[in-house]
Amino acid sequence: MRIGVIGAAGKIGQMRVETIVTNPRTELAAVMDLSLEKAKENAHGAPAFTALDDFLGTKMDAVVISTPSHVREELCAAAFKAGLHVLTEKPLSNTVEGARRIVAAAKAAGRHIGAGFNMRYYPSFAYVKDVVSSGQIGEIDHIRIYGGHAGLTNFTHDWEYKSAFSGGGAMWDVGIHMSDLGRHLMGEVTRVSGVATNKVWGVEGSEDNAMAVLTAPSGVSAVYQATWNDWTGYMSKVEVFGTKGMVRGAYAPMRNDLIVMDGPGSPQRRTTKRYFDIAVREKLKSWKTTAVLSFADELSDFLALVEGKTDGLRIADGHAGLRAIEIADAVKRSGGTGQPVELEDLGPMRV
Ligand SMILES: NC(=O)c1ccc[n+]([C@@H]2O[C@H](COP(=O)([O-])OP(=O)(O)OC[C@H]3O[C@@H](n4cnc5c(N)ncnc54)[C@H](O)[C@@H]3O)[C@@H](O)[C@H]2O)c1
Repeated sequence: MRIGVIGAAGKIGQMRVETIVTNPRTELAAVMDLSLEKAKENAHGAPAFTALDDFLGTKMDAVVISTPSHVREELCAAAFKAGLHVLTEKPLSNTVEGARRIVAAAKAAGRHIGAGFNMRYYPSFAYVKDVVSSGQIGEIDHIRIYGGHAGLTNFTHDWEYKSAFSGGGAMWDVGIHMSDLGRHLMGEVTRVSGVATNKVWGVEGSEDNAMAVLTAPSGVSAVYQATWNDWTGYMSKVEVFGTKGMVRGAYAPMRNDLIVMDGPGSPQRRTTKRYFDIAVREKLKSWKTTAVLSFADELSDFLALVEGKTDGLRIADGHAGLRAIEIADAVKRSGGTGQPVELEDLGPMRV
């Protein structure tokens, strides 16, 4: 598959380019960025552009869009119009309406969209999904999901935390991977009750804390928190509690804890996975090495998605990208009214 990359000179765009040039089944068709010089530096010999029409004039099958989210809609619309499949970074858009239009455009064009929730591929979170699917911990009772870091000091650019560009605060940043992971584990999220605050950093429109209960039609609920006030540093964590045990996945550091029993009060079988190889690799090189591996796995799934496969894929589709944004929006709305927000069951996306 011939793939072009928009935003190829960016931090994540460069990693996406790396996965395309190293995958034997993909070829880097072209790159595009705002600066031609920087685009050329990350082109690996492929043609580089600053103008969208020229970029889309190159023969290709799909694009990866690694720009900030406020320009995503026009780029997605142009890509779908050109008949291309799209793999985009999270969040899908900086507005709920924009995300809905992107999904509608994909469906109208009959093209696939991957929504960039690469943390689904992190070994600790993939392990949680596999344990839950295997039935080892019985029927799911509830989930706890958490994403946090110390906020504004972690950002390189101010668009990353200003809501006009990012869509919002902690829920649109570290929290959006975790609300997606909750949905990935529990099924569709159709009811959201919550509250969002921004007393600490005080950036208008950008919550630095959000707490919510997310509920699926099955009745399974998740307690969700996203924060920019975790002064201890970056942490993403998911815990699933079932009738026969529990499983926890965390990053960073990457770690799993699994407790399985025949029923409450029965003897426990405990498993802990610590991923020392990943900790050493990240210490010697960078966290980026873990992210690149997840982007590579996501790319393989994207190829399979485009080929029409559905079984065994972890990739987030357009509905996953949309629902994660709708959840962030619903938490704020619920906090404003004190009432839960009901959302329709989107289910898996068909194109
Ligand atoms: N999944 C993850 O692990 C992860 C981590 C960080 C960021 N992200 C997401 O990736 C995206 C990019 O983040 P980043 O940190 O790489 O940002 P970045 O600023 O480093 O890179 C963005 C690139 O997009 C280019 N760009 C902006 N507007 C453009 C346009 N209209 N046309 C072409 N190029 C354009 C910029 O010039 C820049 O090179 C964001 O949506 C962010 O939320 C994902």
